[in-house]
Amino acid sequence: MEDLKSSVTTNESSRRQFMIWATGILAAVCGVVVGIPLVGSFIGPRKASSDHWIRVADLKDLPAGRPVGLTATDMEADAYLQESVVRRLWVIKHSDNVVTAFSPTCPHLGCQVNWNAASGHFECPCHGSVYSPDGKVLGGPAPRPLDTLATRIDQGSLSINWQRFRSGIARKIPV
Ligand code: FES
Repeated sequence: MEDLKSSVTTNESSRRQFMIWATGILAAVCGVVVGIPLVGSFIGPRKASSDHWIRVADLKDLPAGRPVGLTATDMEADAYLQESVVRRLWVIKHSDNVVTAFSPTCPHLGCQVNWNAASGHFECPCHGSVYSPDGKVLGGPAPRPLDTLATRIDQGSLSINWQRFRSGIARKIPV
């Protein structure tokens, strides 16, 4: 009877020990699964590199001397998620090795500017800012010229360094 009682106690003790271990391991796994994204969200997205080159066109496909609206597919990081996004921009090919690229974002409050071929100006539909083909402010509340994007030409292929800039201020400051 004593032996039976002792055996039951030992079994119960080892089952309890097993449950303690299993609970500990489960808690550790849950901690890792929940903790890594949580820490990532506290740290936030890594500071955007100032180098973010996107191939946008073959130069031979661009007409010379007038603004052309382009789109390019890009990947954007949001904390630990990556998603595909479409970038818009305006480019003007001056020659086979000189191109100007403009951000499409109005420096006033961030609307998208459009090229008006009839007037020969970039125009913002939101508050009426008007820009010359080289990006200078001709009218409206825009505090600075259109923001240019760095360009790179490699074997006839045009890439731009994609950046966003603060709106509503006179200086061109990347965000
Ligand atoms: S956002 Fe373009 S003029 Fe205001």
